[in-house]
Amino acid sequence: MVSRCGTTAAPQVGTNYNIETVRAQAALLALSLLVPVYARQPVRAKHAMVVAQEPLAADVGLAVLKSGGNAIDAAVAVGFALEATYPFAGNIGGGGFLIARFADGRATFIDFREAAPKAASRNMYLDAAGNVTRDSIEGWRASGVPGTVRGLELAHKKYGRKPWADLLAPAVELAGKGFPVSWSLSESLRSSPVLAKFDESKRIFLRNGRPYEPGEVFVQPELAATLNRIRARGSTGFYEGETARLLVSAMERNHGIITLEDLRNYRAVERQPLQGKYKGYTIVTSPPPSSGGIGILQMLGMLEGSGYEKGGAGSAATIHYLAETMRRYYADRSEYLGDPDFYKVPTAGLLDPAYILSRRASIDPDHVTPSDQLGAGRPSGRESTETTHYSIVDAEGNAVAVTYTLNAGYGSGVTVPGLGFLMNDEMDDFASKPGSPNMFGLVQGESNAIQPGKRPLSSMTPTIVLRDGKPFLVLGAPGGSTIITAVLQVMLNIFDFGMNVQDAVDAPRVHHQWKPDRLQLERGISPDTIALLRQRGHAVNDSRPVVLARIEAILIDGGWLQGGQDGRGAGKAAGY
Ligand code: GLY
Repeated sequence: MVSRCGTTAAPQVGTNYNIETVRAQAALLALSLLVPVYARQPVRAKHAMVVAQEPLAADVGLAVLKSGGNAIDAAVAVGFALEATYPFAGNIGGGGFLIARFADGRATFIDFREAAPKAASRNMYLDAAGNVTRDSIEGWRASGVPGTVRGLELAHKKYGRKPWADLLAPAVELAGKGFPVSWSLSESLRSSPVLAKFDESKRIFLRNGRPYEPGEVFVQPELAATLNRIRARGSTGFYEGETARLLVSAMERNHGIITLEDLRNYRAVERQPLQGKYKGYTIVTSPPPSSGGIGILQMLGMLEGSGYEKGGAGSAATIHYLAETMRRYYADRSEYLGDPDFYKVPTAGLLDPAYILSRRASIDPDHVTPSDQLGAGRPSGRESTETTHYSIVDAEGNAVAVTYTLNAGYGSGVTVPGLGFLMNDEMDDFASKPGSPNMFGLVQGESNAIQPGKRPLSSMTPTIVLRDGKPFLVLGAPGGSTIITAVLQVMLNIFDFGMNVQDAVDAPRVHHQWKPDRLQLERGISPDTIALLRQRGHAVNDSRPVVLARIEAILIDGGWLQGGQDGRGAGKAAGY
């Protein structure tokens, strides 16, 4: 349970109690039934809300909503503002997913995941001995073709309302005029392991060895000029013209492989969201090349009707059952998930209730199934860290969730000279060598091998939950492979354990991803619980504290928007 709990003391044997004491305790008990006793209250607003991982960008979104923009307009403005204020993951040099559910009942998913360049090849990250190199993680060869600018443009063209130039204006201003560096940005920049390795990144983000102190103003003139070209010419101002020329000539000088043709040919793709049910809630979630939506629906399918929740939130019995559910899904992820435009993902088979029940049948409530003894299942139709998220709801009832990323914090570490933005290292999300772990320890298979034009499998899982046909919960997270299990647990904390959205986000989380065969636990799981998990056979991390994703959520209930901003980060829930 939530670690900051106090307790209401039960009357003690032998206590000399009187009627006042009994009355006081009865009053406390009554209060505890009305108000969840240990709840940290979410931010509440009546009309519209943005929850994002950086406060200035959240305020940009709020201003768009207040001035008549819809949730898509706000999502576009926040996406570009984060490029200026949150270089850790805010990006025009990366890619991501946007899911939207509109007040009229339509839903859409915009896939602007990076694509492998045309010159990419299956073994490009293997050395002569066949070992995986670090080239997929750092430097000029690590990047897929960026998708964010085309993705936000597609969302705006089809569903936005305000003029494009107005939505870019705050980002241009934040970059060009600057903003005071926060404590968390200052810490994050100076602790980056990659920025100092690349001259232009070192100059811009570390001031050549004089890192920004909190309160100093951070001005990015090259980025402002790049954003201005997008403001004036839309995505053409990024994928063609001066930005494209500078990017490609720097690639050529540094043995990178992205070409003008790759940039010109990049397209964002609109896809149908996945939809499923859990105890009367409708889950609208991310399809491949996200692996997350299938994961959420598979795991919910294994949990519903299992009685797992009877153990109570945070108990060893509950955590064990969750971990075994996670283990089974991640085994399937490794085998069957990839870019649906290149690999026939057996989505229907993986989500078939009979198949899901057959997977559940192998869960032993008292013992682990070692991952070495558990492979992927056999669904029908099969063929032989760091990111950011924001959630938005507008006054009309449109809901948008965006997760986008450079992959690792500060991506590949490369800033293109003259352009002021960092490039992604998303190529590491492919299986550089099927069967070998990637940056997140994920072991992946042929379905996610590198091919030119293919999009790497992602764990990003922006999701919208409906109740009675209306948006009830909007959420998502950064956190690599831990995104999917974090989104799942926040939903379960609300659906099954009665937490408010803030407590649901803050509660300690657990994560299992099949391989490595290790159960990761955040701080706040009690030592007694950990001992019971060990008894069931779990290998547990208890030496090194972990952070398992950072959720940004909005819950809509009783006429109020309630923002759950993850205390693991320094973001903001802003509403009116
Ligand atoms: N780059 C992390 C993910 O997409 O899963």
